[in-house]
Amino acid sequence: MNFMNKSNPIGIFDSGIGGLTVVKSVNTFLPSESIIYFGDTARVPYGSKSNSTIIEYALQDANFLAKKNVKLIIVACNTASAVALDELKKIYEIPIIGMINPGAKAAINETKNKIIGVIGTETTISNKAYSKAINNIDKDIKVVEKACPLFVPLAEEGLIDHPATKLIAEEYLKELRNENIDTLILGCTHYPILKEVIQEVIGKNVKLIDSGSAASTEVDEYLMGRGIKNYQHNIGKYEYYVSDVPKKFNEIAKRFLGKELEFLEKVELEEILNI
Ligand code: DGL
Repeated sequence: MNFMNKSNPIGIFDSGIGGLTVVKSVNTFLPSESIIYFGDTARVPYGSKSNSTIIEYALQDANFLAKKNVKLIIVACNTASAVALDELKKIYEIPIIGMINPGAKAAINETKNKIIGVIGTETTISNKAYSKAINNIDKDIKVVEKACPLFVPLAEEGLIDHPATKLIAEEYLKELRNENIDTLILGCTHYPILKEVIQEVIGKNVKLIDSGSAASTEVDEYLMGRGIKNYQHNIGKYEYYVSDVPKKFNEIAKRFLGKELEFLEKVELEEILNI
């Protein structure tokens, strides 16, 4: 099995640019690992699409990475993790790690009063992905979930300190505030970009869980446990592939990743569709 090679890259896919927040976390935890990223920018957003469409797209995205000989696939998109992870695991021999279980476990470890809030896209929330994962581990935890779809365009527009973002955050988070949550899962790739305003509105005593960093810790443990962690001291190489290069792509990518992309290539959708 040639994917079980230490020096092979980790594959990460997302519905678009948002998954770069996950790349940033993986880079922090695992700086020696090389990464191949695929962002389905031609078909984003996934968060408002039906489960069957998301599963179809996720299988195509994973297939693109599988062909690149990756040793593990991270499903950075919370929506795809919520809906398509089981299907992906049925098909691929390559280990696949999504956002939901790592985020759920990190929140369970953090909560004291056993009331956890979750925010995400419409699809992640309507599938109750996080509450199912949390209650599978501890059924006594109360989980309060809220879809916050406008956070995605606000993060992409860079309206980080804007009064409109604060107003929208107040509207979205008021239910969660009333429920006395002590832990809040940021269950969407884009939300770490808005974490300051989210923290301010939800209150400083609420612990925010970034599902991307929780997943990075799990990936680290997984690679170590299987003896396929790359310990070489040279810095990992990064390749980014997208199905479209929309206007302002580089500006948004830089905001999400915290630096310029070193290698970017547009892939034709036909190549992706060709499973
Ligand atoms: N990447 C998606 C997620 O984390 C957000 C953007 C979208 O709706 O596609 O759920």
